[in-house]
Amino acid sequence: MQGETIRSVRELDVLARRVFVRVDFNVPIEGGKVVDDTRIRETIPTLRHLLAREARVVIASHLGRPKGRDQKHSMEPAAQRLAELMDVEVLLADDCIGDGPKKIIGELREGQIACLENLRFHPGEEANDEGFARELAKLADVYVNDAFGAAHRAHASVAALPRLFRERGSGLLLEKEISALSRIRDEAEHPFVAVLGGAKVSDKIGVIEALLNKVDVLVIGGAMANTFLAAKGLAMGKSLVESDRLALARTLLARAEERGVRVVLPEDLVVATSPEAEGGRITSPELVGPEEMALDVGPRTLESIGKAIENARTVFWNGPMGLFEKPPFAKGTEAVAKCIAQLQGAFTVVGGGDSAAAVHAVGLAHRFSHVSTGGGAALEFIEGRKLPGIEALRS
Ligand code: 3PG
Repeated sequence: MQGETIRSVRELDVLARRVFVRVDFNVPIEGGKVVDDTRIRETIPTLRHLLAREARVVIASHLGRPKGRDQKHSMEPAAQRLAELMDVEVLLADDCIGDGPKKIIGELREGQIACLENLRFHPGEEANDEGFARELAKLADVYVNDAFGAAHRAHASVAALPRLFRERGSGLLLEKEISALSRIRDEAEHPFVAVLGGAKVSDKIGVIEALLNKVDVLVIGGAMANTFLAAKGLAMGKSLVESDRLALARTLLARAEERGVRVVLPEDLVVATSPEAEGGRITSPELVGPEEMALDVGPRTLESIGKAIENARTVFWNGPMGLFEKPPFAKGTEAVAKCIAQLQGAFTVVGGGDSAAAVHAVGLAHRFSHVSTGGGAALEFIEGRKLPGIEALRS
């Protein structure tokens, strides 16, 4: 199906029609309030575009991983946040299929938005069930996908549903994501530096392998670096190490060498005896004590990362450099965010998840060329995999 076009919401016939917009409002919620509304804000251009054309807008999303219906995973806080951000009325249906949503959508007045309840309250969503998709399809005339964060899931609202609409296409956020991440995947200017962090090598194998064919320098930080350091024979104390991935780490390092990719691993670490410690000591990777664990990268490493990226024309970053949710171990991640943010003239992309949260937390998102709203989806895209949510839009 590759090569067939994806129509933009700008090209769809939406005038005064019912438009189903799949969004990814899978946002962190604490005490009934949305604590990071980036994903919600990012869908506003599409929603405004539709409202300006008098479309009757129906938004739908998953939230968390509920097992059946459960108030803790209601879309209510997200719907409320959208209403505040757009200053429009967002009417929450009691379900995502059936009479409740039908009635709300039937009575929608100009400028209002209908929000369906969590799609994952029905097992048919994750099962990509055709019958469930048919029930959803009854609610609209046009389908728009603006849920890049969920595009890698072959779930009903993302995969089966769009195929039931002749009039289907991508939202403005999805378009923006595809364009920025395609540039990283297919036409990055050199020098190209990838900075990868996060906990596990096993989550990133595909993307590391793909990037080894493209980058000039690969920086590895975060707990993932521990596995590489252990693979080089270092004793990492109580650090998080995937001992079943040491051979893989060695293979990846050898492959990098074969391809002439320079790998930057931590030269110093911030270690402590517990993640709850109030601070750590800086040491070299050779001198991690048996009771200690690596929780952040140290200043010498940050200097090397700075040097590695200073002349880069393209930078892709995914994954924190340490346990950044704990302030004593956030410095490495914050410093990397600042360092990439101040690059002049480079194309800089943050690939979603925790690193995107870090960039937003330090208020630097606007200094990046693109901050993806997708975690897993961004990685799969860079890896070159076909994402079900994108494939289903081709016509
Ligand atoms: C995400 O947050 O990565 C997406 O919303 C997908 O959520 P999931 O991993 O629960 O499918």
